[in-house]
Amino acid sequence: MKREDLLALLSDMSLEEKIMQLVQVPGQTYEESAAVTGLADMEKAEKSKYLAGSVLGLHGADKIIAIQKDYMQKHPHHIPLLFMLDVIHGHDTVFPCPLAQGATFDPEISRKAAEVQAKEASADGVQVTFSPMADLVRDARWGRVVESTGEDPYLNGLMAAAMVKGYQGDSIADKDHVAACVKHFAAYGAAEAGRDYNNCELSEHTLRDQYLHGYRRPISEGARLVMTSFNPLNGIPSSGNKWLMRDILRKEMGFNGVLISDWGAIGEMVDWGFAEDLKDAAKLAMDAGVDIDMCADSYSDYLDSLIKEGNVKEELLDEAVLRVLELKNDLGLFEDPYHGASAERYKEVSFSPESRELALDAVRKSLVLLENRNNALPLNSKSIALIGPYVDEKNTQSSWAITCDADKNVTLRTAFEEAFKETDTKIKYSAGCTLLDNDSDLGFTTYHSDTFDEDNDRLLAEALEIANSADTVVLCLGESAFQSGESTSKTRITLPEVQLRLFNEICAKGKKLITLIFTGRPLELNEIADKSDAVLICWRPGTESGHGICDVVTGKVSPQGKLPMSFPWYVGQEPLYYNRFNTGRPKPVEGDTIFTTRYLDCPNEARYPFGYGLTYSDFEISEVVLDKEKLTKSNPDDKITATVKVSNVGDKCATQTVQLYIRDMVGSTVRPIKELKGFKKITLKPGESAEISFAITDDMLKFWTAANIYDSEPGKFSVFVGFDSATENSQEFELLD
Ligand code: GLC
Repeated sequence: MKREDLLALLSDMSLEEKIMQLVQVPGQTYEESAAVTGLADMEKAEKSKYLAGSVLGLHGADKIIAIQKDYMQKHPHHIPLLFMLDVIHGHDTVFPCPLAQGATFDPEISRKAAEVQAKEASADGVQVTFSPMADLVRDARWGRVVESTGEDPYLNGLMAAAMVKGYQGDSIADKDHVAACVKHFAAYGAAEAGRDYNNCELSEHTLRDQYLHGYRRPISEGARLVMTSFNPLNGIPSSGNKWLMRDILRKEMGFNGVLISDWGAIGEMVDWGFAEDLKDAAKLAMDAGVDIDMCADSYSDYLDSLIKEGNVKEELLDEAVLRVLELKNDLGLFEDPYHGASAERYKEVSFSPESRELALDAVRKSLVLLENRNNALPLNSKSIALIGPYVDEKNTQSSWAITCDADKNVTLRTAFEEAFKETDTKIKYSAGCTLLDNDSDLGFTTYHSDTFDEDNDRLLAEALEIANSADTVVLCLGESAFQSGESTSKTRITLPEVQLRLFNEICAKGKKLITLIFTGRPLELNEIADKSDAVLICWRPGTESGHGICDVVTGKVSPQGKLPMSFPWYVGQEPLYYNRFNTGRPKPVEGDTIFTTRYLDCPNEARYPFGYGLTYSDFEISEVVLDKEKLTKSNPDDKITATVKVSNVGDKCATQTVQLYIRDMVGSTVRPIKELKGFKKITLKPGESAEISFAITDDMLKFWTAANIYDSEPGKFSVFVGFDSATENSQEFELLD
């Protein structure tokens, strides 16, 4: 539809019609079995059935076509309904969770994954996905770290922008693409104490210098929606935060798409004590420029009176409605209200071999090898015992893979049976224990078993029996899918007691021990890391879990994943991140540490730092060579080239991720001891070497200065090039005016 026709439509709509375009109802309004991702007030949704502008939680081509047909016939101006859904890391084909995608350090993987998700979801009737989540995360106690790509602003921005590219393609009207929604704006990951939905206290400087980068790139990539976060920022809830939404998001970042609240977040301003009541909340949200009220009834019940009383200008309403109509128009819904949804096409694209191949590649590249003593991996044994609750556990995705059929995920047992069926290797399998401790709270339910003790005694006895006859044990442990994700904050980030008991009993057998860990967050792994010969972090790998892990464990491919989040020694270190400050009393590496920044009972550093991950080979890196030591700020084309020589000095072909970090030695605000500014992956055969160069430009040195402007400041810098954020391989250079 042409813009003038859109404007004509807008001017022809009644006040009620316009208001209802800003209302999003839960899918149950139209269909009982819709996915529920929040607390729905159902009786109110009924009145919105043929007026609400959008709905969340539905999928299924035939169902959506039928709902759309019925809706448009009954809508006074036959405006199409907009179908939105959380397609986070899979619609049918489940890719590794976003945190695992961060571990690949490969934005292209995320772009391709998003492309597959968009194709499957769009054919299935979905038009908008609530992804990418671009929140910076620094606290492993917060369960939603599983949905992020980690603790680094630069990496997060690249990964989220790649996802937007994959979801939206060149045009969201294309039937293989959907509109993307960057969330949760802003700084939801800074929830105090890692407790979900909690307040976030951040200086404007830290907000800008660390937290906004992750959103800025995907928004510049053209994401069509942004979602407000549940949290207040310094006491002002995002959904009512005019400064954040109008000054930062719209004016400064140039976002002119649709701003949607998170589920009920407008109404929750009442619970926060920021709004008197839902009517006040509606006004605050409209003033902040929130276009769509997701399931809170504040717009549907109060915008009419607010406008008639003159407390909200109708122009504000018209602006918001026009943005929603423009989104529908750019999706082509006025021409094709179904956006290409088709059961036939869905059958063609769902779970295609190509999609599964991409998912397999993503799993292989996301796994992070933390320990590999005496080259315990790749497996080299004729008698293996695969033990643990994840031997047969199918739910290896995250709790956000809401439309995905976990039964289709390839288990470790299936993959190992396939891999070894033509060989003389003997493999035995045993669960060894239950996945959870008894009476484990999973947020929305509790796991309880009346026969927990007997079951686990029996499972343990079986496991020890098969361990006796094996020379290598592969222990398959981990959190459940529902121990990370929304509303799953934890104060203890260890594996369930019942799994630790199994681990210790197996350790006592003295066999070679490989431990695989399925997790949606960094964990405390000290005992496991100390007593295992090898430890592989598998995250929430999804459809191709078994195949991808088996390919790495058997050496078909070498692991190359790098930690996107620091793994602590102890949870007491959280929040924990590599790009920390030196403080005025840095703790010396050796010597007396009294009166320095330290813990009496734990190192300051992570047990496994950001960017860390082993391969099956050994790599060496030369000193950093700079082609010159001075960079001139006034010459925008000026650059310094930093070069290292990387050599594969081991005996296997492997891929290394060479990382570039920069430290601003003196700034008008204190500066982090390192900041990731680039990375390159290189695959080398044994004995091969290669030169890797990075261009250092003035733009890479910019930060939010004490004057609150994004700029670089002349002075001394250090550049580090290494294989993880703990590298000290560095050179100095200077930035001149
Ligand atoms: C949830 C989540 C958000 C999700 C939305 C819709 O509460 O916070 O990430 O997209 O509701 O399901």
